[in-house]
Amino acid sequence: MADISRRNALILGGVGIGGVAIGATGFLVNQKSGRPLASEAVSGADLVQPTELRSSNGVLTVALESSSQHVSIAGRDVRALSYNGGVPGPTLRVRAGDILNVSLRNGLTDPSNLHVHGLHVSPENNSDNMFVTIEAGDSFDYQYELPNNHAPGVYWYHPHHHGFVADQVFGGLYGAIIVEDPEEIPATRERVLVISDITFDSSGTIPTATAMQKMSGREGELVLVNGQLSPTLNAGAGERERWRVINACTSRFLRLRLDGQQLTLLGIDSGRFESARDVDEVALAPGNRADLLVTGRVGTSTLRALPYDRGATGGMMGGGTSTSVDIALAMLVVADARITELTAIPDQPAPNDLRSVAVTARRQLVFAMGMGGSMRGGMMSATINDRAFDATHIDTTVQFGSVEEWTLTNTSTLDHPLHLHVWPMQIIEQDDRPVESVIWQDVVNIPARSTVRVRVKFDDFSGRTVYHCHVLDHEDAGMMGIIQAL
Ligand code: C2O
Ligand code: CU
Ligand code: CU
Repeated sequence: MADISRRNALILGGVGIGGVAIGATGFLVNQKSGRPLASEAVSGADLVQPTELRSSNGVLTVALESSSQHVSIAGRDVRALSYNGGVPGPTLRVRAGDILNVSLRNGLTDPSNLHVHGLHVSPENNSDNMFVTIEAGDSFDYQYELPNNHAPGVYWYHPHHHGFVADQVFGGLYGAIIVEDPEEIPATRERVLVISDITFDSSGTIPTATAMQKMSGREGELVLVNGQLSPTLNAGAGERERWRVINACTSRFLRLRLDGQQLTLLGIDSGRFESARDVDEVALAPGNRADLLVTGRVGTSTLRALPYDRGATGGMMGGGTSTSVDIALAMLVVADARITELTAIPDQPAPNDLRSVAVTARRQLVFAMGMGGSMRGGMMSATINDRAFDATHIDTTVQFGSVEEWTLTNTSTLDHPLHLHVWPMQIIEQDDRPVESVIWQDVVNIPARSTVRVRVKFDDFSGRTVYHCHVLDHEDAGMMGIIQAL
């Protein structure tokens, strides 16, 4: 076991460090077995965009059907879960002020529902309501009304029925939602990059996760971009590409790098920096998104996911996480080109800053994991303030319009990325140090054995929704609470 992973770390690490071009030649290594994948999965093909559906006259009406069927993943015929037969599902493009209607038919054999992750919409009735259950074979009509001042950015949709979330997302149920910028950001082209991970056996079947994998949060053996293995992207020098990147992995953290190219970050999640930032690396916890510009420089660059240490489950043999390899996600080939220069990236309105605002309530959330009962029984506990999720219990009641400060403490040996529905969080303190810039995210990682402080403004909507760890196995295990805004 150890030998294999060390060997893979060397092989993949070597590829990364040397910047050797892979993909086009078909030399790729299975991240777990160390076997060449050439005979098993196809890599190097051009990146394909998911089907795109765009609103017109302020409305987008979409029919989604989830099902378990054969789809092409990594060039292989896999029995996966999909929306409308695609992994990922269709990209939904809307604008602030639009109405998004989604009629979802649950073609699975388990209950499901839909969540529009990050959208600032009502959590009630047939909007982003986490308490809707769509039984197998049933349908439900959602309607989301985006406020006129809804933040532009990258969002996504996925199922959210407690107890089934990790299996259904891991199985292939996710898709992008783009809220367009009111003022266009000049770019040569735009691409959606939905990054997910998956495991399937030689018959194309996705295995069920073991208790141990659930404890640490399952990670797939293959990391995909739009359901493809190491696809190729072609661009011209000086072109400015807009990449909408989503970490749709069930548990995997992504530290993305694209050496040799210029990366400019417009924002993470729904937040927009006032001025775009040049970056070398973008770290995305599960659920996070990046709105990124890539300015092409001649040459071939590998989009890589670097090793990220998210901790290990204490005392469990083999219960550690496996993010120790350097993974080649995609290849960007930039050809020499003569292009007309693009206009500058416009500045964005200054984001709200809650650091100078009066706080109306303070609250503490403690994230803990433990083993209840015997190890053999795999009775893991994953709690917030000592409670596991209970659909009948409201854990947190907040006042509509209030500004709260939450101290998030993680007592466990694994990272827990906290996600709050409906209202984004401003990170104000990390590692006991105040955060110097304005950072808004809807998933905020709380590293193992540490504390993070955030502020939230409970504006625009009242009602009941949830906050939870976005390592979806932890969410299914109970690391989720109900919040009610009155
Ligand atoms: Cu992306 Cu509550 O989920
Ligand atoms: Cu969400
Ligand atoms: Cu967690």
